[in-house]
Amino acid sequence: MSILYRLSDVHYSYRWNQQLISVLKNLNFEIQKGCFLCFVGPSGTGKTTLLNLLGLIDRPTRGEIFFEGQSTNSLSENVLENLRLKKIGFVFQSFHLIPTLTVLENTSYFLPHLGVDSALSKKQSLEVLDLLGLSDQAYKKPLELSGGQRQRVAIARAMAKQPDVILADEPTANLDQETAGKIIEAFKGLQRSRGTSFIFSTHDARLMSMAGTVHTLTSGELDPSKNPQETTP
Ligand SMILES: Nc1ncnc2c1ncn2[C@@H]1O[C@H](COP(=O)(O)OP(=O)(O)OP(=O)(O)O)[C@@H](O)[C@H]1O
Ligand SMILES: [Mg+2]
Repeated sequence: MSILYRLSDVHYSYRWNQQLISVLKNLNFEIQKGCFLCFVGPSGTGKTTLLNLLGLIDRPTRGEIFFEGQSTNSLSENVLENLRLKKIGFVFQSFHLIPTLTVLENTSYFLPHLGVDSALSKKQSLEVLDLLGLSDQAYKKPLELSGGQRQRVAIARAMAKQPDVILADEPTANLDQETAGKIIEAFKGLQRSRGTSFIFSTHDARLMSMAGTVHTLTSGELDPSKNPQETTP
């Protein structure tokens, strides 16, 4: 298996009220391609912050993140944007859907930027919406949906562009057990069929039990007494 990410001495601090708040510390680990990996840990421990770094949305305050063997520190914003567009699907904890666009338009949002023509873009997006149980919601706007439906649209948007890696921040947090189970199956199906790598943060015991690797973050550090927990998916 080849390496998707390598973190070398990664730290992250937020600047807040003229103070530096240290959130992530001493992160040194690798993530393999084709993984199904979870970050777990108490609220406020830095899971979203870490996913933002892996998603190349934020840069570490110190240390280095290698993505597919390439150091990302020296890459320009344009190059990072292009990598995000082509290779990374991101499911935000607060969804970040575009309220003026329909579910279908939100789902297919990135596809024109990837050179997919409009007929294929519609077909690909409708297939993903069907897989996530949202076919009958395609022409609604986000504000006309339930919280769990919105969460699934955010997942659909990440899946529709068929990225190498999907980073999903608590992707089952708003879903009932049955719907969460279907989403996890859809992720597993993509992992098997396309070799897509999946990296989550979660508090969901079922999602954890399906993960190949569970990393526990405690106060922004990987807890050495608990890491990594290899489970049998
Ligand atoms: N923009 C910001 N400015 C200052 N501090 C921030 C900012 N965003 C997050 N933090 C702080 O960083 C810490 C980690 O936040 P983060 O959102 O990464 O936690 P989390 O593990 O994802 O929590 P949860 O399980 O509740 O989603 C928290 O203490 C939070 O208050
Ligand atoms: Mg979070």
